Amino acid sequence: MLGQTEDEKTVRDLEQILSGGQRAAKIVKNLLSFARETSPEKQLSDINEILNNVLEIMEYDFRVSNIEVKAQLDPELPQTMADANQMQQVFVNIINNAQQAMKEKDKPGGLTVRTTRHADRLRVEFTDTGPGIPLDQQKHILEPFYTTKSESKGTGLGLSISYGIVKAHGGNIEFRSSEGEGSTFIVDLPIVEEPTAPSVEETREIDLAKLDIQKVLVIDDEEDINELITEILTGVGCEVVTVTNGELALKKIEAEVYDLIVCDLRMPGMDGTEVYNQVEQTKPELAGRFLFLTGDISDETREFLERMAKPHLMKPFTRDTFMEAVERACTKMS
Ligand SMILES: Nc1ncnc2c1ncn2[C@@H]1O[C@H](COP(=O)(O)OP(=O)(O)O)[C@@H](O)[C@H]1O
Ligand SMILES: [Mg+2]
Repeated sequence: MLGQTEDEKTVRDLEQILSGGQRAAKIVKNLLSFARETSPEKQLSDINEILNNVLEIMEYDFRVSNIEVKAQLDPELPQTMADANQMQQVFVNIINNAQQAMKEKDKPGGLTVRTTRHADRLRVEFTDTGPGIPLDQQKHILEPFYTTKSESKGTGLGLSISYGIVKAHGGNIEFRSSEGEGSTFIVDLPIVEEPTAPSVEETREIDLAKLDIQKVLVIDDEEDINELITEILTGVGCEVVTVTNGELALKKIEAEVYDLIVCDLRMPGMDGTEVYNQVEQTKPELAGRFLFLTGDISDETREFLERMAKPHLMKPFTRDTFMEAVERACTKMS
């Protein structure tokens, strides 16, 4: 829809919906990555920039809870390899805790966020003027599900997720706090340079027209997904056929030739794995034309994808990530 409207207000509203959806997706992803450790997707990241974004997003919350924020960010802070979404999640968790703690005090609060460099590490400190953490609670607060908050306010997951994320980055979270004196949480990260990439640049410039995919079969039990993919692909000139189950898919594949088969993994009845296995038996020449879609990160699914070494795309996806996956799939075919 964003591509179809120029009305400023509509664009703004749509962007908000989009960013809200993306945020929700990230939170779910973080929860899942906590449940089964997925390795971070690291990119060269500017920690100050991530912090500024977080502070900006939370500005309204600070204002209504009467909290004054001071950012003392070292302008010379070097970038480092980090998963920006995960780091954002860490910072949001720590700041939320500080904010909740200070709200309890019923007095205007202060939060200071500081970044500094120490040799080959960088440090982010969050100092609040909240009530502090009693000594007997301190040894527990990094534990999953440890919370001193009511059910509606706390899950006890914030710090343990954050700790896991930071550890996976080769860093550490520490804190200093004494009752009545406020708390300081310190995130310590190694400064990691970007690995010099092999020259894969050329593959970025793939022109879909050159890939010569004309006819695409889309198999997904969710009609919405089929519709979305149809819109994306017809937009770039493809002919798209959609089906909502594996049995129908096999019939289509028997009757016609497709240049690309986009196939969901989890479906009621015959699932994507079975569709693939059948096609491999009956029309092996088409087995290399699969692009798998999945919203599932179970071990079973992951093992299947690893074993197949097939291109795949995780849901939820955007137009861009979908097109990138199509490019990957097509590059593999040729
Ligand atoms: N800045 C802080 N000031 C006081 N207490 C804190 C602070 N940060 C964390 N805590 C304590 O640590 C506990 C665990 O935090 P967390 O893992 O984020 O879970 P939750 O916020 O859902 O309770 C909190 O319930 C709170 O008791
Ligand atoms: Mg929390």
